[in-house]
Amino acid sequence: MATVVSMINMKGGVGKTTLTFNLAWYCAWKMRLRVLAIDLDPQANLSQYFMGAERYLGHIQNKGYTVVDIFHTPILSVAGKCIYDVSYCYNITLDIVASRLELAWNLIDPKCKIEEILPQFLSAINHHYDLIIIDCAPTESILTIAAYKSSRYVIVPVKPEFLAAIGLPLLAKSLNNYCSKNKNQKLEIAGIIFNDQNKDMYMSPEEISSCRSVRNIAENYGWKVFENKVYTSRFFPRGSRERQPIFNTSGVYTTVKDNFDKVAEEFLKAVKLR
Ligand SMILES: Nc1ncnc2c1ncn2[C@@H]1O[C@H](COP(=O)(O)OP(=O)(O)OP(=O)(O)O)[C@@H](O)[C@H]1O
Ligand SMILES: [Mg+2]
Repeated sequence: MATVVSMINMKGGVGKTTLTFNLAWYCAWKMRLRVLAIDLDPQANLSQYFMGAERYLGHIQNKGYTVVDIFHTPILSVAGKCIYDVSYCYNITLDIVASRLELAWNLIDPKCKIEEILPQFLSAINHHYDLIIIDCAPTESILTIAAYKSSRYVIVPVKPEFLAAIGLPLLAKSLNNYCSKNKNQKLEIAGIIFNDQNKDMYMSPEEISSCRSVRNIAENYGWKVFENKVYTSRFFPRGSRERQPIFNTSGVYTTVKDNFDKVAEEFLKAVKLR
């Protein structure tokens, strides 16, 4: 059965989608795990990273299946149709359930029990994968509850900048609230990953102080902080545009690639896939 991991931070723009994309690629390509990525954000950035902006647009224009269909169609009839192979010509298992803007409308439809349907959908297809990784939206909603309910672990990407720690107490409150109502489910924070950070010797005073406040909060809650960090590199945005993970992108500094590999190894250990 697949391990389900959600990438969550109530703060936006911290690298949830970038890390979901690169970790999914790493696990499928380098570890030969069978990976499914779920785009649970109406912005649909992850879908565009994996499919490419043009192909994604064509998909939406041709009324291709997305995660929205899961919530409106009997699961068994839609399960096979909304999963897309994004491994291209490589001999790996890397699939995605794409998102679309209309997902936001489900949030205001009380008849649509997203938080019940997503875990049911994942249980129906779980045995085909080793890892299911869910990219969440930055705001708390019923989608966050659906992600909690589907997951064994939460990973929290953090960008060391002004207000970096702002989302963490919100996450702690939301997770505690959820866990107190769902005592039979095992759900834990597997760790905080610093992303988009300068190498230690080039860190600005602001980066240093925001890292410190994030670490203090993590210690208070008993959350692990990954030892390795994902460095800032213009090749992350470029790789996302070109559908390429960082380790397959040419011109990237070796330290950036090596550090990403170390983070990915730490990720696998944190979610007990190693
Ligand atoms: N390590 C990095 N180095 C350089 N740029 C990065 C890095 N990580 C992410 N970025 C860039 O930062 C921006 C935000 O990243 P991303 O979309 O992954 O964040 P997010 O948390 O998913 O945002 P949202 O909350 O809107 O969903 C993107 O333009 C991305 O390419
Ligand atoms: Mg995102």
